[in-house]
Amino acid sequence: MLTKLAAGAALIALTTGAAKTADNVEVLHWWTSGGEAAALEVLKKDLESKGVAWSDMPVAGGGGEAAMTALRARVTAGNPPTAVQALGFDITDWANQGVVGDLSEIATAEGWDKVIPTALQNFSKHDGKWIAAPVNVHSTNWVWISKKALDAAGGKEPQNWDELIALLDKFKESGITPVAHGGQPWQDATIFDAVVLSLGNDFYKASMVDLDPAALGGDKMKEAFGRMEKLRSYVDDNFSGRDWNLASAMVIEGKAGLQFMGDWAKGEFLKAGQKPGTDFVCIRFPGTQGAVTFNSDQFMMFKVGEDSKKAQLAMASAIENPVFQSAFNVVKGSVPARTDVPNTDFDDCGKKGMADLAEANTNGSLFGSMAHGHSAPAAVKNAMYDVITRHFNGDLSTDEAPAELAAAVAAAQ
Ligand code: GAL
Repeated sequence: MLTKLAAGAALIALTTGAAKTADNVEVLHWWTSGGEAAALEVLKKDLESKGVAWSDMPVAGGGGEAAMTALRARVTAGNPPTAVQALGFDITDWANQGVVGDLSEIATAEGWDKVIPTALQNFSKHDGKWIAAPVNVHSTNWVWISKKALDAAGGKEPQNWDELIALLDKFKESGITPVAHGGQPWQDATIFDAVVLSLGNDFYKASMVDLDPAALGGDKMKEAFGRMEKLRSYVDDNFSGRDWNLASAMVIEGKAGLQFMGDWAKGEFLKAGQKPGTDFVCIRFPGTQGAVTFNSDQFMMFKVGEDSKKAQLAMASAIENPVFQSAFNVVKGSVPARTDVPNTDFDDCGKKGMADLAEANTNGSLFGSMAHGHSAPAAVKNAMYDVITRHFNGDLSTDEAPAELAAAVAAAQ
């Protein structure tokens, strides 16, 4: 008994000692699904190996809305976490409030300017200062198809809208749910990203990036809502409120044919032991080949005391390490946030993701994802979510939706 107690005391002493001497980061994030947690573990372990201890602050909820609400409460209370997973315009919004830290010292020493694409730097930097460390690049215009279901339907990967609809009809005939979907605003909006992009790069840019009222309220937008209405007819009755990873599980288990989702879905397939090409197939949303709607998870740093700042810099440096970038993104389903990371360790979907991103970046067909906060600030994004979801749930007709969208966006600006 005594020995046990003594050992316990020694252990406590050791742990507290370690916590005192080691740098510590408290990290707010929403990576709670199986695939996300596996990727997070790669980050945690990497930091721990560099003497940076991790205090976890997970806030469940795909797309991060709940996490952003939790963050607001912490910042308002004057007690921000050391580092926060954040997306696009949310980072800019916080920077405008003057509460973010400064990573420039490490970014300059390590030459981030040269290897992180400008599309990401637009969010990682504010007034010339580095305020966030990008960990990845995801994209939303993907389709994840069950290989078994695809083979049973003739094996042809759909290249355009008509072929997609033909495939969904075949899934329906074979008795499975054609589209695995979770009815949550951000998931509806994720499909909307791809649907709008499938009607043309210029149309996506005009409506989702430039917020042009004519594009938001016009005939092409009516076509986009028409496509959403059509896709809605292929989801099952229980779709309302379902989490995205449970929708992925439906495809993994062969209960559904496909899922329209960003490449974080690949993390779920991999976690379930599935292999691309053998168990599942990844294609770009039909009609969006050559274009990419991206979002990048970045760790935004808040203003903190000197001790925590040291930990922030250590964390940021670890995140931008090319070896880590490869190891992390292989598990997460995303691609590296640096252009100099070899694709060697990535599977075929990852290699395709890296090649597509590079191609889109050179061709002017790389756009920020509306659904994931990279095309417009949160107020506009939320206004769009509202219209898209009301329409998806049948509370707004396809005829009425474009004018509602244009009006909602105008009111939110
Ligand atoms: C995205 C985020 C991804 C993934 C997804 C679902 O916004 O960029 O990393 O976590 O939400 O939670």
